[in-house]
Amino acid sequence: MKLFIDTANLAEIKTASTWGIISGVTTNPSLIAKEGRNIVDVIKEITTLIDGPISAEVQEGLAEAMIETAFDYAKMHSNIVIKIPMTMEGIKAVSVLSKHGIKTNVTLCFSVSQAMMAAKAGATFVSPFMGRLDDATNNPEAGYELLQDIRLAYDNYHIQTEIIAASIRHPLHAEQAALAGADIATIPYKVFLQMIEHPLTAKGLDIFRKAEKQ
Ligand code: G3P
Repeated sequence: MKLFIDTANLAEIKTASTWGIISGVTTNPSLIAKEGRNIVDVIKEITTLIDGPISAEVQEGLAEAMIETAFDYAKMHSNIVIKIPMTMEGIKAVSVLSKHGIKTNVTLCFSVSQAMMAAKAGATFVSPFMGRLDDATNNPEAGYELLQDIRLAYDNYHIQTEIIAASIRHPLHAEQAALAGADIATIPYKVFLQMIEHPLTAKGLDIFRKAEKQ
C-alpha cells in the first residue's frame, strides 16, 4: 500500500519527505484554507518537496468550469492530480479529463455506486472517506466495510482505478485500509506520528537504553 500525506502544510510535508516513505500528497479546500495562501502557490511548492501524485481540488460546479480549472492546474506540474467532487457534473468532467490524459482523483466517495461511476468515467483515483462515514453511521467499521466492498467490486471487473483510503482519523483506519486492500492511504501528519508508536516498543527501547548504559 502506498502512503500519501493528507495536508497542505509545507512544514509537515518537508518533515515527512525525510522519512522516505511518502509517495504523494492530497489536499482539499479545507486544508488549503488553513494555510491562508493561494492554492496555486501552495501546490507549486508541494511539487518541489514530493516527487509523486499531488492532488489539487477544483471548486465544485458545472463540468465546463471544473474542466477549465483542471487544465490550468495540470499545467503546473506533471505530477498534478485534479481532485473532482463526486457529483454528476464531476463525473462529466472526469470523463473529459481522462480522455485528455489528465489524472483525476474523485473525492467525497461514500458508496460502491459512486466508486463504480468514478471508475467508469476513467478516474485515476477514487477517495472513499473512512472517518466521515464512521462518524455519520456511528459505526467504527463503516469505512473499513466500504473499502472492502469497493475493492471487491473493482477486482470483479479488473478496474484499474486506484483506491485512496481517505479521511483517516487514527492508526486503526490505516490498518483497515491495508487489510481491505486499498492501493493508497492518505494520512494526516499527526496520524503518522501515532502509527509509529506502541507501548511495548517504548518499553523495549527503555530496556535497551538502560542495558546500553551498563
Ligand atoms: O483530504 C481528503 C480527506 O482525507 C479529508 O478527510 O474527513 O479529515 O476532512 P477529513
